[in-house]
Amino acid sequence: MLVSAKEMLEKAVEGHYAVGQFNINNLEWTKSILLTAEELKSPVILGVSEGAGKYMTGFKTVAAMVKAMIEELNITVPVALHLDHGTYEGCYKCIEAGFSSIMFDGSHYPIEENVAKTKELVAVCAEKGLSLEAEVGSIGGEEDGVVGMGECADPQECKMIADLGVTMLAAGIGNIHGKYPANWQGLSFETLDAIQKLTGKMPLVLHGGTGIPEDMIKKAIDLGVAKINVNTECQLSFADATRKYIEAGKDLEGKGFDPRKLLKPGADAIMQTVKEKMELFGSVGKA
Ligand code: G3H
Ligand code: ZN
Repeated sequence: MLVSAKEMLEKAVEGHYAVGQFNINNLEWTKSILLTAEELKSPVILGVSEGAGKYMTGFKTVAAMVKAMIEELNITVPVALHLDHGTYEGCYKCIEAGFSSIMFDGSHYPIEENVAKTKELVAVCAEKGLSLEAEVGSIGGEEDGVVGMGECADPQECKMIADLGVTMLAAGIGNIHGKYPANWQGLSFETLDAIQKLTGKMPLVLHGGTGIPEDMIKKAIDLGVAKINVNTECQLSFADATRKYIEAGKDLEGKGFDPRKLLKPGADAIMQTVKEKMELFGSVGKA
């Protein structure tokens, strides 16, 4: 069922686990993630970047596809359809399209402007029953055209945004979108700890979930992270499995070129990656 992310994240904070946000790009991605969540009885968040929304022809198409798929696949676990790194305008488009959750990424604005725009969206989301994610500091690297310098968030600014009544808060703590470079310094647990102490039970969000070592993921969850975003890792799994299928010449055997066969190894690989992440995050059986 399509729900806001509020309740599933509050439960995650109480239960000391994290719910995975897995970004979707097309029908295969969506189906693989939904089926895995159902099989593992895990709550799940489907992330849609503005670029991916455009690729799938628009947010209305995405919302219609996800709603129909939840119904026709008999998905009973809680599913949130969430705008990822949304612009101010993108947030309103997704609210209108029927998303159940949005992220307003105002991290590149001066803090006063981030506060003002987030405050406005808190009121709109509260009225419509949607969950809202805000961001402070920035996530390094690039995701779908969203570029961040990777500066750690100021815990006081995090408190200012949390106090507005957002559902969840993404804070830059040294995390990076995409693959982590060999000289990466790791997550700043000092920053995370300070943010958690000031924001209490606010579910914290860890972006850049691809490639963070398991011990760091577990420590982050201990320090209040209740939502972890994964995008690149599913893309890598999909690409790797598809490449192997083609390199083995499977597309040339029988009807191996049929898109339903050609895309299956990639779709299966996404299921495997999502399963591993849900097990690591501790959300299995929590639906
Ligand atoms: O917003 C989405 C994520 O932060 C994904 O990060 O591509 O590094 O897994 P990732
Ligand atoms: Zn992100």
